[in-house]
Amino acid sequence: MFSKFMKAYFIVFLSLCILKNFGISPGIAADFEERSKTALITGANKGIGFELTKLMLGCGDTVYAVARHTKPLESLKTTYPDRLHIIKADLGTVEGQNAVAPAVTSMLNFVVHNAATMDPVGDGAMLDSSKTEALRSMLNVNGIAPIILTNMLGDKFMPLTRHLFVSSRAGDTMFKGIIPYCVTKHVLDAFVEGLRTDHPDILAATIHPGEVDTHMQSILRAPAESDFALAPVFVKTHTEGRLLAPLTAARFFKWVLCGASDDEFVSRKHNMYVDKSTYPHWVPEGVTIVNPYPDSGASDR
Ligand SMILES: NC(=O)c1ccc[n+]([C@@H]2O[C@H](COP(=O)([O-])OP(=O)(O)OC[C@H]3O[C@@H](n4cnc5c(N)ncnc54)[C@H](OP(=O)(O)O)[C@@H]3O)[C@@H](O)[C@H]2O)c1
Repeated sequence: MFSKFMKAYFIVFLSLCILKNFGISPGIAADFEERSKTALITGANKGIGFELTKLMLGCGDTVYAVARHTKPLESLKTTYPDRLHIIKADLGTVEGQNAVAPAVTSMLNFVVHNAATMDPVGDGAMLDSSKTEALRSMLNVNGIAPIILTNMLGDKFMPLTRHLFVSSRAGDTMFKGIIPYCVTKHVLDAFVEGLRTDHPDILAATIHPGEVDTHMQSILRAPAESDFALAPVFVKTHTEGRLLAPLTAARFFKWVLCGASDDEFVSRKHNMYVDKSTYPHWVPEGVTIVNPYPDSGASDR
């Protein structure tokens, strides 16, 4: 009897050590040991979405990964052939939006509307007629697709499915030079507000992931100052190493999805820099969360 107990104790101890080596804290591991769930994540091929996809798969979940460019996901599929379902779709098009729901064959516990583009960027981009197609695609990917997917996936939702819409501090205010992007993030915040009004039973929330070192940030650094007055601000933040790793943001997302209670989940716009009481659950060892723009927007509200 005693040796059986020691054996079980040893196995648990060993598992926790292995998980720690993979950068997964025991708190998060325990959370995932309790359940194996199914998530749909858009923009799953790079940046925060890719890290979140890997985290979910690594913890035993099934992921429907929606992406326009699927190569990184195909490599991942060799490790998770049964639990990773790749849905190739350009969410900037009606065809791409329509392709998602029919490809989902099981009920979803989580939907993460993460895909977004920053193009067109630049002062006056909103009314620049040479950028109409980029603008149309952006409005579709960032603003319309999350609403249409929520509409079309209805029969794949359970009563407690969590819908997470990836917003930004750009959803709280307007920044010159990225007005189209700000408008799309306002749309998401408004949509969640609308869901709460019309469907208070649906668990929906928005999230601001923080300032994260991804392709999107590189788009903000690329223009000349004459085209985009804020570009030097983004260059400086990057040069000073003040952007967070995508994995850190993904851990925050995962905690909001899996660690927060239902009441907590719907209680607010989740904000990486504001939700300090949650840090012990997801901030990796050795990482300090510092807002590079504490005075701009409403992100530290
Ligand atoms: N990084 C930050 O500092 C920051 C700050 C605030 C909010 N956010 C938000 O965080 C989320 C994730 O962004 P990220 O920082 O991880 O940027 P990212 O690396 O550029 O990822 C954006 C994702 O959206 C996908 N996407 C873009 N256009 C698409 C289309 N037409 N069809 C399908 N997918 C498309 C991209 O895939 P492709 O390879 O196909 O382009 C990519 O997977 C976004 O909603 C963003 O607005 C980011």
